[in-house]
Amino acid sequence: MTVPARKRAAVILAAGQGTRMKSPTPKVLHRIGGRTMLDHAIDAAQALGCERVVVVVGAHSPQVGEHAVKRLGEGATVIQDPPLGTGHAVLAAREALADFDGDVVVTYADCPLLTAPTIEPLFALRDAGADLAVLGFEAADPTGYGRLILASDEVLLRIVEEKEADAETKQVRACNSGVLAADRAVLFDLLAKVRNDNAKGEYYLTDVVGLAHEQKLTPRAAFAPEAATQGVNSQGELAAAEAVWQAARRAAFMVEGVTMPAPDTVHLCWDTRLAAGVTVEPFVVFGPGVSVARGAVIRAFSHLEGAAVGEGALIGPYARLRPGADIGADAHIGNFVEVKKVKVGAGAKANHLSYLGDGTVGPKANIGAGTIFCNYDGFDKFETHVGSGAFIGSNTALVAPVRVGDGAMTGSGSVITKDVAENTLAISRAGQVDKPGWAERFRAMKLARKEKK
Ligand code: UD1
Ligand code: MG
Repeated sequence: MTVPARKRAAVILAAGQGTRMKSPTPKVLHRIGGRTMLDHAIDAAQALGCERVVVVVGAHSPQVGEHAVKRLGEGATVIQDPPLGTGHAVLAAREALADFDGDVVVTYADCPLLTAPTIEPLFALRDAGADLAVLGFEAADPTGYGRLILASDEVLLRIVEEKEADAETKQVRACNSGVLAADRAVLFDLLAKVRNDNAKGEYYLTDVVGLAHEQKLTPRAAFAPEAATQGVNSQGELAAAEAVWQAARRAAFMVEGVTMPAPDTVHLCWDTRLAAGVTVEPFVVFGPGVSVARGAVIRAFSHLEGAAVGEGALIGPYARLRPGADIGADAHIGNFVEVKKVKVGAGAKANHLSYLGDGTVGPKANIGAGTIFCNYDGFDKFETHVGSGAFIGSNTALVAPVRVGDGAMTGSGSVITKDVAENTLAISRAGQVDKPGWAERFRAMKLARKEKK
């Protein structure tokens, strides 16, 4: 985290309707890398060292406010009702920051790719004497954006919104990202002077730039890559931002020593932790809360969430690790094995077609193909504990609550309803009956009938 020269606060705008998302979920609660866009915006503000973060929310989506309060505490939100423009939105935070002495940075909650390093140059401009610092970008297609009217590379005169722009101004490709920083008192004094006599009848935050210039203050601009400032307005743009975010995260892991032969097919989460020396094969999905220790291999088509994978463990192909799966060092979890809330000991193996839910598997135990931990009776969950070095025969149903002792075995096809003592073999199935010649007689009888017809 940066240690700023002046104190910093953030105002995050999140009062827009987000109608183009066409979703019952408020726009800024849609997720990138498994984390809401609002949380990404708060992350950036906190990484900038903002000691106060105020989220401006609309009256139309109380969930946004609740989400912000859960993360930041009471008093972290202000309501803008009705929404009368971006300038009006920032003004809604005026009271909340009345006692704050320092710089305020304004960001949007729907720009999930904006990170602290991208915004930090605004504070460098402040340090260099700019009264107002605006983050701009060179747009491939500037249509729809506010245009930065610059006197020189950095010196800003004003911002002209698309709707107010004449033909010549529309040629300008230097655009406003929406992020700006200024001293708190200066910003709110300027905002108080903003009027809504424009094409949209809105209070434009961007008008503070022209006002500042008129007052002989110095507005300046810093530039970021267009991709870093992109907003999300539709499901398509959400997916596009996700793709950018995923690519960046995967690249970072590869720099740190994670092997990914087909990175484009790996889906990460914001809190995924992969140690150096981990291999992630193609088409692996990480949900929230996964950590993988060095040397582990996550084979193709596996799905992991809320799981810890120990050193050198081998997961998949086609494995499913659900929350509470805690896989020990060098353990193997193979194809079509689902593990939920089970601690699997070091070197244990469950290689094929099993459900292990609620319990423990001891070190070096072997879980045969088709083993089921029957953990649920329709009302409650119960635990299964398999001792170290135990051998569970194929197609064993372990009806929880049940314990299989260290070194014990179960015969394949058994339904185990009682605890098995250590080093004991438990079999529960009908004994085998052999009828010599029966099959031959059966076929002869069937053939004879068929010929008669
Ligand atoms: C804004 C900028 C424009 C810039 C563009 C970048 C203004 C006037 N224009 O335009 O210069 O190029 O963003 O994407 O600032 N919001 C509120 N309350 C409101 C209105 C908006 O909280 O009353 C929030 C929205 O939720 C959104 C952000 O402010 O997060 C921007 O609003 P939007 O309507 O998208 O502004 P643009 O017209 O795109
Ligand atoms: Mg917009």
